[in-house]
This record gives sequence, structure tokens and C-alpha cells, in this order.
Amino acid sequence: MDWRVRFVDYPEQWQRQRPELLPIIEDTIARGDLMLRQQLRDFEEHLARFTGSARAVGVSNCTDGLRLLAHALDVGPGDEVVTVAHTFIATISPFVLRGATPVLVDIGDDHLMDTGQLAERVTDRTRVIIPVHLNGRTVDMAEVTKVADHAGAVVVEDAAQALGATVDGQTAGTFGLASTYSFYPAKLLGALGDAGAVLTGDEELAERLMRLRDHGRVGKAEIDGWGYNCRLDNLQAAILDWRLAQLPGWIERRRHLARMYDERLHDVPGLEIPVGPDSDSRRRDVFQNYPVTTDARDRLVEHLNADGVEVLISWPVPLHHQRGLDLSHWSLPRTEALCRRVLSLPMHPELEDWQVEHVSDSVRRFFGA
Ligand SMILES: Cc1ncc(COP(=O)(O)O)c(C=O)c1O
Repeated sequence: MDWRVRFVDYPEQWQRQRPELLPIIEDTIARGDLMLRQQLRDFEEHLARFTGSARAVGVSNCTDGLRLLAHALDVGPGDEVVTVAHTFIATISPFVLRGATPVLVDIGDDHLMDTGQLAERVTDRTRVIIPVHLNGRTVDMAEVTKVADHAGAVVVEDAAQALGATVDGQTAGTFGLASTYSFYPAKLLGALGDAGAVLTGDEELAERLMRLRDHGRVGKAEIDGWGYNCRLDNLQAAILDWRLAQLPGWIERRRHLARMYDERLHDVPGLEIPVGPDSDSRRRDVFQNYPVTTDARDRLVEHLNADGVEVLISWPVPLHHQRGLDLSHWSLPRTEALCRRVLSLPMHPELEDWQVEHVSDSVRRFFGA
């Protein structure tokens, strides 16, 4: 397919970044700085500063970050972990694989955890509550924190899609005991492969995670306990460190594109669009995705594809309807309806204004608007 607008445009991204990244890659490899070297320490320090967290620990990917946290928190059989079904499987799997029972909450109008339902899902077995800051928007953390404190549960934020999102100046991923970010290539901050990080304000937990990600080692020879191999490659860290410095500009670009979509699509009957970037001065959403909803979802996808527009349906089947996960006893009507109605329009910093105009015109034509 010859797309006029790609959902994510890796070739274009590489062409733009090549002059800056090639010397960094060359230099890192030429020095032999491949594992746990200065570039990783620099990136961790810069990431912690960017988010306002005390510590950032680079790991192999976000899923492994959650795995290390589930281990460090000693989550196991008999524990309940409360989260949403409108998320990637990785939010839940590291906890379930340690024997915990997932407890699922439905979503609200903004596709995020309906925190109003949390209190009724929490029991004396609840160990962890995992809000997922989906699409670059922060969950209502005041309510999550209140329920968690009352239940004696810890909050682990899945901030895979929300690096740089804030509410009242506080960054998504700094509200709970710990959080995880994904640097999968399509993310706000993407690596050239898999990568992730755990953030925490708890120094002791951060030190534990540093050991767990590297076989339980302290220094070269001493082993403190059983561990994993979940290190963030030094080369990826060097690339991520340069990209992190560009991130504020890329976020501004995403917010500009969201504003353009908002202006062009807000009055289309039969189509719902995300809350606009300027609609709430307390919030700064970073638009990892631009999800729109309509009853005519599948026909709209065909229409957009025919106009050369690549779109994404992240999760057409809700997690609790996936065969083999043993979650079918949950009834989550809003999650189920959303999975039938949602699609994400192209949203990435390389997107040109004319491309947003092309996508928006195509959407308006479909609805006869
Ligand atoms: C909400 C959410 N959680 C977790 C993950 C897992 O991230 P990773 O691929 O870095 O393990 C993703 C990645 O797509 C995600 O979107």
C-alpha cells in the first residue's frame, strides 16, 4: 500500500535524526561502551530530572520493568491486582505470572480507568492498583491514591504511553510508589528497539531494582540475591538520551497536531474526539495517540485506508474476551463498547500539517460533514 499518511513514519524519522544520531551510535560503539556504562547513567539521571522523580532505572522494556516491580514487591498467590482491561496485556501479565489475581475496572469517557468504580473493586487482598495513563493522558490520581491508601495497597503506574503528561505540573508516573515507561519505537520517546524504565521516589526500591535487572549483582563479583537479565542496552540509552532532549519539542508538535484535529473534527456528527489540548489548564496531555470513536468504525477505517491513511485499532478484542486468559467472567460494558468503536488517527511528530488536513478532510467526507 502506498500510504499518503503513515500511522508511524520510521523511515522519515530516521532521515530527520540521522545526522545527529549516527555520530552518537558510532562513538558509543567505537568506545566499546555497550553494557551499563556512562551513557546509561546519564540517561537515567536526565530522565529522573525530566519527570521530577528521585530515581529512574533503565530496563530492557516496560514489561520487564513491571516484572521487576512485581518481584520486588513480592506479589504472589492470594494477592489481587486492580487495573483496567482497556490496556496492553503487559500491564497485567507480570503480576498474573507471579500468581496474583487480576481484578478489572471499567473505563470512563476519556478511555481511562473509571476511578469511581475503584472503591467497590478493592478488598483486603488488594496489593497493587495499576492506573494506566493511556494515550498520553493522566488518570485521576487523587482518587486512586485515596482508595489505595484506604486499602493499604501500593500504586504502580503504567505510564508506558504518558512520558511528559502532567496534572498541576506533576508528571504522570510520579504519583505512586513506582511507575514504568516504555521506549518501544512508536512511543513518545522511542528507542531503536526495545527499552524501558522504572521510576520511583524510593531510593531503597531503586537500588533493589538495579540489582534485580542485573542478575542480583552488586558491582562485578558480589551477588545479593536471585535476579534477572533485564538491563537497558547502553547503545539504546545513548540514543534515548539524545532523543529525551528533543522530547519537549516533539510533545509541543503533538499538541499542535491535536489542536488541528480538534479544530477540524469537533463538529462532525457521529464522531467523538479526545478532550482538546487547551480545554483544561490543569492538565497537559501529550497525545501518544489520537483515538476517535464512532459506531461506523470499520467502514471509516476502510474509507481512510482507501484515501491512503493508515490507522490503528489497538485492541479490537478487550483483554477479558481474549481466549486463554481466563478473564471472561468480567463484564465491562464500556470497555467492550469502546473496543467496537475506537480507532486511532495518525499522530507523531513527523506528521506534516497538510497530512492532518488530508486525514481530517477524509473523515469529514465520510460523515458528509
Ligand atoms: C499501556 C502499555 N503498557 C505496557 C506496554 C509494554 O511496553 P513494552 O513493549 O516496552 O514492554 C505497552 C506497550 O505497548 C503499553 O502501551
